[in-house]
Amino acid sequence: MRLLLIGAPGSGKGTQAVRLAERFGIAHISSGDLLRQHVRDNTSLGQTVKQYVDKGDLVPDSVVMDMLYKPVIGATEQGGYVLDGFPRTVEQAEAAYDVAHRLGASVQASIHLDVPKDELIRRLLARSRGSEDTTDVIEHRLEVYLEKTVPLLEYYSRREWLVTVDGAQSEDEVHEAIAQRVSTLAPPASTA
Ligand code: AP5
Ligand code: MG
Repeated sequence: MRLLLIGAPGSGKGTQAVRLAERFGIAHISSGDLLRQHVRDNTSLGQTVKQYVDKGDLVPDSVVMDMLYKPVIGATEQGGYVLDGFPRTVEQAEAAYDVAHRLGASVQASIHLDVPKDELIRRLLARSRGSEDTTDVIEHRLEVYLEKTVPLLEYYSRREWLVTVDGAQSEDEVHEAIAQRVSTLAPPASTA
């Protein structure tokens, strides 16, 4: 099973990805978690991306693609993945599509977690992930989402199987809504 979770900052991508990975026995791969780990470990990649992550700007596409390549290939061979936070731009989606297509491992469903802005801000302020969750950076991340990621929803609605779920419900309700939609997916071509 190969799923993408797309949603604004605070929409519950990480929360739901953990639960989906557990339920379906697939890997959870979070671009944001991996980037933050590099920053904490002060790797050379971490030093390159810190300024972007702190400001809420998108990290350059090539950096994210290189970082994710191995984990995604590994997970594809091991039963699948739920990818949280990637792709985030149409450019990333196109590049990833080309790679996946060559490997015969196209994504099966893109899940959009739809949550109103006031609820997103409420959640992020209640959580506060250090410098990433100050009011100014939250506002900026939401603007970046509208500008760069919302066009991706349109792209997927034309190209892939896009499922929109009401992400403002309780965590359990969102999880069940996604699981129910996912259970209607056709099995992956490789095992059919
Ligand atoms: P990333 O880590 O992806 O952050 P984000 O998109 O801003 O989203 P969050 O992780 O803050 O929220 P979430 O949707 O995961 O929600 P969560 O489950 O935590 O990216 C961080 C940065 O990395 C980016 O700004 C960028 O710099 C860089 N980056 C990452 N990917 C990139 C890419 N592909 N390309 C370029 N740059 C990239 O939930 C939030 C809170 O709400 C939690 O406290 C949770 O407990 C609560 N909550 C969750 N669900 C519910 C619910 N149903 N009801 C009530 N509360 C809930
Ligand atoms: Mg997250």
